[in-house]
Amino acid sequence: MKKIAVIGTGYVGLVSGAGLADFGNAVICADIDADKINLLKNSEIPIYEPGLKEIVFRNVNAGRLSFSNNVNKAIKDSDVIFIAVGTPEGENGASDLSAVLEVARAIGENLNDYKVICTKSTVPIGTGLQIMDKISKLSNSSTKFDYVSNPEFLREGSAVKDFLWPDRVVIGASNQRAIDMMKEVYRPLYINETPIIETTIQTAELIKYASNAFLAVKISYINEIANICDEIDADVHVVSKAMGVDGRISPKFLHPGPGFGGSCFPKDTKALISTANELGSGLEVVNGAIRANKRQKERMVAKLMKLMSNDVSGKTIALLGLAFKAQTDDIRESPAIEMIESLLASNATVNVFDPVANANMKKKFNQINVFESWEDAVKEADCVAIMTEWNEFRGLDLAKLKELVKSPIILDSRNILNNDTLERHGFTYDNVGRK
Ligand SMILES: NC(=O)c1ccc[n+]([C@@H]2O[C@H](COP(=O)([O-])OP(=O)(O)OC[C@H]3O[C@@H](n4cnc5c(N)ncnc54)[C@H](O)[C@@H]3O)[C@@H](O)[C@H]2O)c1
Repeated sequence: MKKIAVIGTGYVGLVSGAGLADFGNAVICADIDADKINLLKNSEIPIYEPGLKEIVFRNVNAGRLSFSNNVNKAIKDSDVIFIAVGTPEGENGASDLSAVLEVARAIGENLNDYKVICTKSTVPIGTGLQIMDKISKLSNSSTKFDYVSNPEFLREGSAVKDFLWPDRVVIGASNQRAIDMMKEVYRPLYINETPIIETTIQTAELIKYASNAFLAVKISYINEIANICDEIDADVHVVSKAMGVDGRISPKFLHPGPGFGGSCFPKDTKALISTANELGSGLEVVNGAIRANKRQKERMVAKLMKLMSNDVSGKTIALLGLAFKAQTDDIRESPAIEMIESLLASNATVNVFDPVANANMKKKFNQINVFESWEDAVKEADCVAIMTEWNEFRGLDLAKLKELVKSPIILDSRNILNNDTLERHGFTYDNVGRK
């Protein structure tokens, strides 16, 4: 059993901390956000993530997981320090590494014994060297440490499962002592024969960006194919299905929609381009995916405007779903943001309902009207737009919807409704590449 500090208790830090405790380690999750830590100490989970509450409190009750505001003490008391703070988009698309380097400073100043420093945050190639340099300069030269890059691949919405049963674990390290330490930390995964990729620090840093940028490209690609389908007599779902059965392509990430969002793809694609530009190598494919994604979000707004004959002023538009995808309350870079901005700018009244993300969006747009059910949000609406593929919208009772709205007009930006059923109920509708 290792003593572990996870610094940064957000989506990644909290899930990783709970998961590492579940593997049998003693984990302190530390964060500078006092409100977040107080919530956790009071048995409340600050984010929505399926299964997280259960795993957190199972490990708290077993005495393996605790929470603290005291980052310095957490560092001193641990053998392995995981850095899991945010790396948001900074200037010119490059990552803002201020939180990561702040943690490196705290580690350097509190390094009281040999420790393995492990970065889970997504950081650009070369950040490992910067972190090591900072710790070395601030710590006593007789106190040794090793550095590991251990990028995280969990997906919000299935983060707990992804952490406990990952497709692979990537460990970038420069010496065996650090790798052995990580083997102990991840012992159950080694026993399960999870693919573990041991490599250099910089290779590990690149693997994370290469993976996310590839998935972003795949999404933008199928979105652009869907846009072609919009113009011809073709159904993008049939195209995706036929493409996906080809083992070289695979069916995953071939579902068209309103454009990718979330806390990772938008910033990670830009950060990888920033790195490629610095290296003078360029990354045209990913540049194209980012441009296509911006256009896709604008295209959803244009589709809604077209359904409304380009006049939404004084009209009520109901948005069903606000999170960037289902099963999360995360609204970062959600396509719903672009939609709300455009509607408000055009003087529309915006009613919204999301099963878990209402509060986050209300913080961003005070002008929106938030409702606790889809039925209340759509009452007397001139148009409804599905923005997130929540299960409860997949089975939408269209007869009931038609009774509640003022006009039966619907934009299905997630392609979760059936065209024939919409037609049978007399809806005017649009979707992404299926009409
Ligand atoms: N969210 C995801 O799905 C996901 C998946 C894989 C990787 N990542 C990467 O993991 C990292 C974290 O992402 P996230 O979504 O968990 O971020 P987040 O914003 O949810 O959480 C970051 C946390 O770090 C804390 N923090 C900031 N500075 C700190 C400091 N100096 N000391 C202690 N705590 C500090 C913040 O208070 C916050 O609670 C990012 O680099 C992200 O790219 C995220």
